[in-house]
Amino acid sequence: MKRIITIIKNYGGIKMDYILRTYNLTKEFKKFSAVKNLNMSIKQGEIYGFLGENGAGKTTTIRMIMGLIKSTSGEIELFSEKETKQNRNLLQRIGCMIEYPGFYPNLTAGENLDIHRRMMGMQDKECIIESLKVTGIQDVKDKKVKEFSLGMKQRLGIARAILHHPEFLILDEPTNGLDPSGIKETRELILDLCKTKGITFLISSHILSEIQQMATKIGIIHKGELLEEIEYDELQRRNRHYINIKVNNDKKAAVILEQKLHIRDYVVWGKNNLRVYEGLQEASRINSILISNDVSVDELCVKIDSLEDYFLKLTKNKHYNV
Ligand SMILES: Nc1ncnc2c1ncn2[C@@H]1O[C@H](COP(=O)(O)OP(=O)(O)OP(=O)(O)O)[C@@H](O)[C@H]1O
Ligand SMILES: [Mg+2]
Repeated sequence: MKRIITIIKNYGGIKMDYILRTYNLTKEFKKFSAVKNLNMSIKQGEIYGFLGENGAGKTTTIRMIMGLIKSTSGEIELFSEKETKQNRNLLQRIGCMIEYPGFYPNLTAGENLDIHRRMMGMQDKECIIESLKVTGIQDVKDKKVKEFSLGMKQRLGIARAILHHPEFLILDEPTNGLDPSGIKETRELILDLCKTKGITFLISSHILSEIQQMATKIGIIHKGELLEEIEYDELQRRNRHYINIKVNNDKKAAVILEQKLHIRDYVVWGKNNLRVYEGLQEASRINSILISNDVSVDELCVKIDSLEDYFLKLTKNKHYNV
């Protein structure tokens, strides 16, 4: 199905909320569904962390948003100002860096950016210096890209993506392959661009700890499906307490939990370890019933999930009732 971009009009100078919305966005490669009925939304000023394992469908989604591949079905709605009439103009308001950015290796950083400047139809060369400054690589303007480290190339990729002063910046795994200080610098750059230039971000990553340090909203994609789309504060609230129970036989313990205690909200978390998310007040009763049914209990205590646990739980058992 043809890619559809709906232009949201900005009536009467009132700022529209949404920068991006997708409706049942789907991409099939032959019979394989890489992205399935994806409904995502990004509001102005947000840093949207698009989180998913390798192969989850992040890059495919971004490619569809950028019009680089056609969706099989579904719609993409991009935030736009009132006077914007054409898709091309809409896309010009977006900066994008997909996976490892490609450059002409024998040209300098400045020359590479200059090619992009001309492609974008920009007259003023000032933007090149400005972008290099913002990304902290102005000192290597005249260095050939083939002599760049990976971290420098990532920065140059961001410099190119912001060259035309986009309102919305899409960065696909911007910290891929960077060392811890490179990751921190990239994070600080993103936060700074959001704060000082008001840029809205869509940042994909497969590393939760990176995303959680900057995202204001997280969308979790798994096997092409958007499992959750939650505000960061809400995600924190959803981290729940549970009773962690170590036993000698997890299968038998699970049967007792279900049949004798009528507990449904639990997971087997590793060998002979269960996490029970209901009946927290009844820990001692759970303990005694397990023991009276010949299950030995080595540990039973109330704990709280970390954000990472939450993510793993969601993706490992997507039907888990959160
Ligand atoms: N052109 C293509 N033809 C066939 N299958 C494809 C194509 N592009 C992507 N895929 C498949 O679609 C799925 C999603 O791929 P995608 O690149 O979007 O994942 P990703 O979330 O970006 O992963 P990563 O973290 O590894 O970058 C994968 O199973 C991939 O093999
Ligand atoms: Mg990818």
